[in-house]
Amino acid sequence: MSRYFIGIDVSTTASKALAIDTAGTVVVTQSVSHDLSTPRPLWSEQDPEQWWDASRQALQAVLQQIPAEEVGAIGLTGQMHGLTALDGAGKPLRPAILWNDQRSGAQCEAITNRVGEKRLYQLIGSILPAGFTAPKIVWLRENEPEVYARIEHVLLPKDYVRYRLSGAFVCDVADGSGFGLMDIANRQWSDEMLAACDIPRSWLPELHESQAICATVSEAGAAATGLKPGTPIVGGAGDQPAGGVGNGIVLPGQVSLTVGTSGVAYAINNSYEPELEGRLHTFCGPMPGTWFSMGVMLSAAGALRWLRDEFAPGASYDELNAKAESVAVGAEGLLFAPYLSGERHPHPDPYARGALVGLTLRHGLPHTIRAVMEGVAFGMRDLLELLRAQGIQPSEAVVAGGAANSPVWRQLITDIMGIPLYTINTTEGGAFGAAILAAVAGGAYPDVPSACAQMVHKVDETTPEPGAVQRYNELYPTFRALYPALKPSFTALSTFEQA
Ligand code: XUL
Repeated sequence: MSRYFIGIDVSTTASKALAIDTAGTVVVTQSVSHDLSTPRPLWSEQDPEQWWDASRQALQAVLQQIPAEEVGAIGLTGQMHGLTALDGAGKPLRPAILWNDQRSGAQCEAITNRVGEKRLYQLIGSILPAGFTAPKIVWLRENEPEVYARIEHVLLPKDYVRYRLSGAFVCDVADGSGFGLMDIANRQWSDEMLAACDIPRSWLPELHESQAICATVSEAGAAATGLKPGTPIVGGAGDQPAGGVGNGIVLPGQVSLTVGTSGVAYAINNSYEPELEGRLHTFCGPMPGTWFSMGVMLSAAGALRWLRDEFAPGASYDELNAKAESVAVGAEGLLFAPYLSGERHPHPDPYARGALVGLTLRHGLPHTIRAVMEGVAFGMRDLLELLRAQGIQPSEAVVAGGAANSPVWRQLITDIMGIPLYTINTTEGGAFGAAILAAVAGGAYPDVPSACAQMVHKVDETTPEPGAVQRYNELYPTFRALYPALKPSFTALSTFEQA
């Protein structure tokens, strides 16, 4: 009997396994952390074996709490874009190169020139940033030819775990979109992109819809985890689209704003409408016949953590909130440009940096905390405006991520967006979304929107305060002007960054 569905999330920091029952209640969750290695500036790598070990342990712990024979299906999610290169025997040839690795800038430029910007945006639904998988494969060809010569398979992180569970080389269309090698409109690998990158099609995994059963647990996978051999595995999705499902964003018009370490504005569409300036990603959605648009800020709630760690070590977030609350809208003329990790949208620029503009002797830590919260919220407003320009006009949105836990931050995000924002009953995000996809494949629900209607609901709503909305609307153009004004300084300063 299928009483439970499992979601596995292979994130950058940990692998998590979570089980829900057919009503969507989380019955058990277990997480095992990963290490990250940065062998050189701009590089970011992980050992794929570590993902498998952590996932295996998390699954074993979950299966101590629920009987394996009652697991109806498994869904996978995880960090997107990471390149896992395997030899003919399925062994990783080197550490995986992750989504936040910046080494392949030159390869991105060469591929973009070959295909042509407009054609590229139309085909892959996005610019080609260094984080994507395709330029990393080309980087290997140019920089590690001995590794490249032995490649027979390339997989994304969660799909490596699926391979170890099942022996299958498969991927879903929502995560597969992040290779930068798909014809997004047609939900297939693009021969034109493969030719432009000179990458053999045979290396790529077979593509499936996110809610389709595409593999089953093998005898070896079962022995390693405690799962039953033959348990169905669905396509799943990358962390953002699976998180979209987990947040209940499954119908056109619904929008989520996730203000976590990074910031993401996410929406679903029933047709493929790429942003032809390349200022958003538009990828295959986690439901058949859907696409999602998302804008990504690389540093969001992470900026407040940075401020706390560097300038108020040991302070609690409650103390930071109280300080921010003591300062009026606009932080007495102090503005923060939130580009602490470079930026992806709407300013794709690895050299973009943070800035505090308008400092006077009057300003102290409370103003700076408020300015950081406001600057991050304005960055999220930039992303929402890109969605609005796509014709997506939400009357409300889900707010998620660490910033949603701060009442003052949530209120000022609401005022800066100008629409009501609400939290939902779960914060499990991607793993929960992956389990929902499994529940649909397992027959517990006819489709993903019906499952979400049953499992995801509003908890708490924040409404905009008209006075603050007006003040922030007056300040927004000044925020918009910061990046273009500072760009030449960012570029010049980057030459001083090498230690
Ligand atoms: C999405 C993206 C991140 C990673 C890591 O484009 O780069 O969400 O998936 O979380």
